[in-house]
Amino acid sequence: MSKAQLKIAQGTKLSNSEWQVRKNDAVARGQGNLAPIFVERALGSEIWDVEGKRYIDFGTGIAVCSAGHSHPKIKAAVAEQLENFSHTCVMVTPYDSSVRLAEKLNQLVPGPSKKKSIFVTTGAEAVENTIKIARAYTGRRGVIAFSGGFHGRTMLAMGLTGKITPYKNLFGPFPAELYHAPFPIEYHRVSVTESLKALDNLFKVDIAPSDVAAIIVEPVQGEGGFYPAPVEFLQALRALCDEHGIVLVADEIQTGFGRTGKMFCAEYAGIEPDLVTVAKGMANGFPIAAVVGKSEIMDSPLPGGLGGTYAGSPIGCVAALAMIEVIEEENLIDSANRVRDTFASRLEALQAKYPQVIGHLRTSHGAMMAMELVQNGDADQPDAELSKNILGKAYEKGLVLLSCGSRGNVVRFLPALNISDELINEGMDIVARSLAELVK
Ligand SMILES: Cc1ncc(COP(=O)(O)O)c(C=O)c1O
Repeated sequence: MSKAQLKIAQGTKLSNSEWQVRKNDAVARGQGNLAPIFVERALGSEIWDVEGKRYIDFGTGIAVCSAGHSHPKIKAAVAEQLENFSHTCVMVTPYDSSVRLAEKLNQLVPGPSKKKSIFVTTGAEAVENTIKIARAYTGRRGVIAFSGGFHGRTMLAMGLTGKITPYKNLFGPFPAELYHAPFPIEYHRVSVTESLKALDNLFKVDIAPSDVAAIIVEPVQGEGGFYPAPVEFLQALRALCDEHGIVLVADEIQTGFGRTGKMFCAEYAGIEPDLVTVAKGMANGFPIAAVVGKSEIMDSPLPGGLGGTYAGSPIGCVAALAMIEVIEEENLIDSANRVRDTFASRLEALQAKYPQVIGHLRTSHGAMMAMELVQNGDADQPDAELSKNILGKAYEKGLVLLSCGSRGNVVRFLPALNISDELINEGMDIVARSLAELVK
């Protein structure tokens, strides 16, 4: 009997590393884990592992638990729902919470047009459905996405994703008629003009605009590196889509529900997307996603053409309704901007100390912040190794931290929108100590 098996037999708790060994043996490596931390419980912005060690959480399960872990109001809503029923299938015998949630989402998503919603379970599914809806509406085939964008891991969503490793290698071929244009990033010397020129070129070389069903864009690129789409770029996309009858899809899966300091990030550009994908922060950890969009477009598919067995689960619906109330009652949007300010002052101080290492800060969009790590202050010399090492040190010191970026060199900060300044400072002290140990 192995040491781990003996401990199980004796009822003794296993350590993180013992669970990691068992996980590696039982779970395929494709579903990796960033941190070697096995969670026992989580509350607010703190997590405790199976060894009783406490961590500050700057990741919120990748921008999901925006109201903090185990929020009492959301827990209570879910507990009450569990007493009534947990599943009947929204496509068979629906329930009032699904209607109330659709009405709420239709109100919240930006723009004056009448909206309708459909529910699904994951972000990738929401993305897939926007393409189905846009194709049904336009009768066209093409879809344009952007380099560095991330839209999910299912085949169509992955085809739209503009990052190869680890998402796309080994998995092709991808669905046809998907095209990529460069995303404008000033720090990497790709201007809005250049991006728009590349789109124009795409229309000449690869696909006529009259064959394009949809353009999908993240208002702030998430996995790609936390690059906000410039306001003038989103406005130009809106105008381009209007000109050519193309459906504009805003992928707000990571940016929605207050994360960027507005309810939806498209509000910064003052545009009304045709379709919006939502998931993640919508229900604070209960799996539900949706597509919300202009009614005339949303109603294009035939009845039964959209959905899924678990789409709009009653647990997810009540959790999302409670989450929306929490955002309003606890002013989480203002709070996201307060969180941004506290992080920004800490990150700016670090950048002043390490100007050759912290090449660029992203602190313009609420609690969706990042620092891009480079060598010799050069944007073209990404330091993915340093980013990986900072994460490693953070875990050792009691901080859950995430990375991102097409080059793997961005450390991102995605805390709960109601995290206290005290916890932010405690976490940022760990980041500062980690940098001090790693940068000579
Ligand atoms: C912008 C964006 N779109 C789509 C997805 C995919 O969502 P899910 O992982 O729920 O399928 C993500 C997830 O990170 C995302 O950030």
